[in-house]
Amino acid sequence: TQHAEKSWDDELQQLLQTVPKEESWLSANGGVYLYQGFWCSARGLKSVISFQRHFQAFDSDVVVATFPKCGTTWLKALTFSTLYRTQFARDEIENPLLNFTPHQLVRFMELDVYLENPFPDLENICVYKPRLFATHIPFASLPTSIKDSKCKIVYMCRNPMDMFISLWNFISKLRYQSQEPPLSLDEAFDKFYRGTYAFGPFFEHVLGYWKASQENPNKILFLKYEDLKEDISCQLKHLAMFLGVPFTEEEEKQGVVEEIANICSFEELKELGVNNKGLHAFGVPNEIFFGKGKVGDWSNYLTPSMVERMEKLIQEKLVNSGLTF
Ligand code: A3P
Repeated sequence: TQHAEKSWDDELQQLLQTVPKEESWLSANGGVYLYQGFWCSARGLKSVISFQRHFQAFDSDVVVATFPKCGTTWLKALTFSTLYRTQFARDEIENPLLNFTPHQLVRFMELDVYLENPFPDLENICVYKPRLFATHIPFASLPTSIKDSKCKIVYMCRNPMDMFISLWNFISKLRYQSQEPPLSLDEAFDKFYRGTYAFGPFFEHVLGYWKASQENPNKILFLKYEDLKEDISCQLKHLAMFLGVPFTEEEEKQGVVEEIANICSFEELKELGVNNKGLHAFGVPNEIFFGKGKVGDWSNYLTPSMVERMEKLIQEKLVNSGLTF
């Protein structure tokens, strides 16, 4: 009702006035706010809270969780293809990835679905079953029913230096598109260092999922971008097993694992018409989700002093966690 909507807007306005605020990487976003330990735009916060309050998980749900720029697009494509592989014919025409972007097939809850509507019709939005969707929200802030149910979470992280350069390139393209002046690498590094960007700080995000996956390995699969780049077949088999849909011997003999790896590869996805033109659901051009898709590209950008500061930060943040990059 109108009354409920108004009081919810008032509540949100009050919250925004009481929490710390920082300048956003994109002025169009109007600043980022610190909520439950992570930074988020005002618009994003509204849908994060709707998602937290209204979403009801099923035990059969699968959640793709990532920090932005850690390979979300790739992980969406891989999880979609693996989970639903028996639901469409193996020939080239039938594969939904050829006609829809990974972000249309596996939608973001807080950046997309709940942004449009606080009570979305999830049965229709998740066309295939079991339901599969994505989020960038830190583990601690996920809707309670995701944490308390038996639903599964696939998380992917990436070397922080590559993630940072990927983010800087992504933001630079968005700023160019909206005719904002470029953000220097120095300025961007400072923001990264302080963690003041959407869903940041990075290390707290990664550690939250890392610890949860250590405690509950059957619920949370923790993947690294670099490991997938190194041996995609092995990681895909692992993913399928975790999702409870292991590849059969017959499938392996028929080359199904390689087929999935192939169609989801950077080179294939980037070249598809659906991915290299058009606007993404939340106003971002599809093509900028594809950069170079390489490991170690940071070495072409970071100065020695940035590398030194970053290495120190990594060491400080990950000490005694058992996690390395
Ligand atoms: P680079 O900017 O280093 O090229 P996200 O999907 O989380 O936004 O992450 C984007 C990063 O993943 C970009 O990295 C992009 O090139 C890379 N990427 C996109 N699709 C990929 C794929 N199919 N395989 C490997 N990397 C991919």
